[in-house]
Amino acid sequence: MRTLVTGGAGFLGSHLCDALLAEGHSVVCVDNLVTGRESNIAHLANEPQFSFERQDISQPFDFGAVDYVFNFASPASPVDYMEHGIATLQVGSFGTYNALEYARKYDAKFFMASTSECYGDPSIHPQTEEYWGNVNPVGPRSVYDEAKRFSEALTMAFRRYYRLDTHL
Ligand SMILES: NC(=O)c1ccc[n+]([C@@H]2O[C@H](COP(=O)([O-])OP(=O)(O)OC[C@H]3O[C@@H](n4cnc5c(N)ncnc54)[C@H](O)[C@@H]3O)[C@@H](O)[C@H]2O)c1
Repeated sequence: MRTLVTGGAGFLGSHLCDALLAEGHSVVCVDNLVTGRESNIAHLANEPQFSFERQDISQPFDFGAVDYVFNFASPASPVDYMEHGIATLQVGSFGTYNALEYARKYDAKFFMASTSECYGDPSIHPQTEEYWGNVNPVGPRSVYDEAKRFSEALTMAFRRYYRLDTHL
């Protein structure tokens, strides 16, 4: 497969790039390096099946046909998403939308890296798939929690309305 990994220079995304390459797939890593590091992918610089595109996915982008889009781009730690609050909301809305449209354009499968923070301050433990959460929409963490909840809603809408092959 030719795959595209957004947030591919981050902690999880860079390991995903490694794993996909090890399985024989090619990887287009897309990252604006807001919280990621080029050093996470430096060892892949001479890998012919790997390419890196420095790009903010909140802006439209196109790096050609792919079979699978893995959407990992987002500040993830509380320190990072508090510092980059607006950019976190942008990547969870515009960014996820652009990544979904990209998958739709090329009839690719789509995977959304969400988070347990979608449950907010949960009132049941452990959380089940039936539990919808307890998020404060105006609290300081809402920049991350609501961005991810919107990403989940958008992913499900692309699945229901466009029949995109999505995974959360
Ligand atoms: N690490 C965890 O424990 C954990 C838990 C739950 C969910 N997640 C999710 O997994 C994903 C990766 O998390 P991580 O821990 O590797 O974080 P990370 O900060 O190391 O990686 C995120 C990457 O996304 C990139 N990025 C952010 N905004 C971008 C944008 N607009 N355009 C392009 N690239 C952008 C960053 O530069 C970074 O390289 C995130 O979406 C996060 O919400 C992580």
